[in-house]
Amino acid sequence: MQTSVAVQSSTLSSHDDRTLSLVFCAYTIAAAFWLLFATAVGVLMAYKFGAPDFGPGAWLTFGRLRPIHTNSTFYGWASVALVGLAYYVAARSSRARLYSAKLAWIGLALFNLAAVAGTIALDLGFNDGNLEYREWPWPIRLVFLAALLVTAWNLIGTVARRSTEDIYLSNWFTIGGVLWTCVIAIVAILPWYQYGLGQVSVSGFYMHNAVGMWFTPLALGVFYYALPKLLSRPIYSYALGVFAFWTNLVFYPIIGAHHFLFSPLPWFLQTTAIVFSVAMLVPVWGGSANFLLTMRGRMHGMSRSYPLMFIFVGVVGYLVGSTQGTFEAFRSLQEVWHFTNFTVGHSHLTMYGFVTFAIWGGIYALLPLATGKAPSQLGLTLHFWTALVGSFIYITSLSVGGTIQGLDWIRGLPFIQSVADMQSYWLWRGVGGSLMLLSHVVFAWNVWRMSYGVKPNASLDDSSATAEAEA
Ligand code: HEM
Ligand code: HEM
Repeated sequence: MQTSVAVQSSTLSSHDDRTLSLVFCAYTIAAAFWLLFATAVGVLMAYKFGAPDFGPGAWLTFGRLRPIHTNSTFYGWASVALVGLAYYVAARSSRARLYSAKLAWIGLALFNLAAVAGTIALDLGFNDGNLEYREWPWPIRLVFLAALLVTAWNLIGTVARRSTEDIYLSNWFTIGGVLWTCVIAIVAILPWYQYGLGQVSVSGFYMHNAVGMWFTPLALGVFYYALPKLLSRPIYSYALGVFAFWTNLVFYPIIGAHHFLFSPLPWFLQTTAIVFSVAMLVPVWGGSANFLLTMRGRMHGMSRSYPLMFIFVGVVGYLVGSTQGTFEAFRSLQEVWHFTNFTVGHSHLTMYGFVTFAIWGGIYALLPLATGKAPSQLGLTLHFWTALVGSFIYITSLSVGGTIQGLDWIRGLPFIQSVADMQSYWLWRGVGGSLMLLSHVVFAWNVWRMSYGVKPNASLDDSSATAEAEA
């Protein structure tokens, strides 16, 4: 098992190495806090489906807790963790020091300021209405936008001072993702066209680009760097990676209307979204094949490396979750699944099974290289299995229950019948969610060990771990 590490040797001064390691640690610690907080809220909400009156008081109502959960998992957990990883990957793969540590700290402060202010505002009942994933009042979203701009500037600056000839593939995904997200955040804030059907289109555009052009490329960037590092072999095909990057960029931005099929949005717009939802199979299958072929022949060794196992689950989550999304976009299947808990299952298969597992794999693969400190074997084992089993229970129960819910509606049964039918599935979701939360407590402990733990006495030669990712 990969638990023994040494600080990754680099061409930088020890001061620059230390700065990079501090930045990476600080982003990871902040993100771990947000994961704990957001998913504790998630578990509370999950049990409210069985006991709706539990937790009285306006500030504990489902309507306030739900956007707190979604916004803090998106912007507190996944965004902050991925930016920390992106800085590390950008600097290491470019063999350059961070363009500006100061900007990285400012970015971290802004991300956290937005998440704290957004959470408080939502809990006090101040929000921007039902604009999904944009519920924070707009001045707070401006703070988040400022954090994105700072991050984009710093990442570009870092890659621009690279001492390698090419820009490594991970940085294409990361910089492309950050720049695109600045665009969608601006589009989502400007008020002029946000009324009537214009607002609906922007909602679809924003929702799907947040997941597809922010979390997805940043998580894929982690795979492209961490996999070669863990396996000490280059990525199967660099060209296929570039192809997946461009097809992702071309197809993703126009699929947002699949969230509003059968709505008053123009029919051609809905059909376009469906067509490009199918086209998304190209980057998804191309990218997944690239990762799986990179792992080919090493599967037996995988069970001895938890970072690799986290990444493997992430790749499978990406492949299965996105392919499922393509099917969900067909009108015939939307008739069954839309508005049901099946969609919530899809959200967690992708945002948890893909993005969150990718982040964990990246952190376990790279943070020990930055700090020279490793989590314990017990910590890794507990984290992996409780998260995997918990999310499996969560996603399976909602996928099965959500399908039954949709079929009940199609059969014209009284609505309350579908609620009764869901009871046991919601209970199982609570059980799975509790295991997931437990795994996050273990993750926080592991992060603590990787950041503040004791360094192993003997620093091993890290030549295998430092094999050229960009070879
Ligand atoms: C690339 C292929 C994908 C396609 C074609 C796709 C398709 C869909 C569709 C059709 C819906 C709407 C379901 C409904 O409202 O009935 C949906 C919802 C959702 N998808 Fe995907 N998906 C894909 C990948 C992903 C990925 C990679 C993520 C996360 C990183 C993701 C996250 C979500 C989320 C969070 C929702 C719920 C949105 C809401 O709140 O209504 N999807 N997806
Ligand atoms: C302990 C783990 C978690 C639990 C118990 C949990 C629970 C929940 C619950 C109860 C909902 C409301 C569903 C509804 O409205 O019917 C929800 C929604 C959501 N959660 Fe989680 N969650 C967890 C982890 C996460 C993580 C880590 C992420 C993202 C990284 C996430 C992203 C979302 C999203 C995007 C939605 C909206 C789903 C939709 O509208 O389709 N959750 N979650």
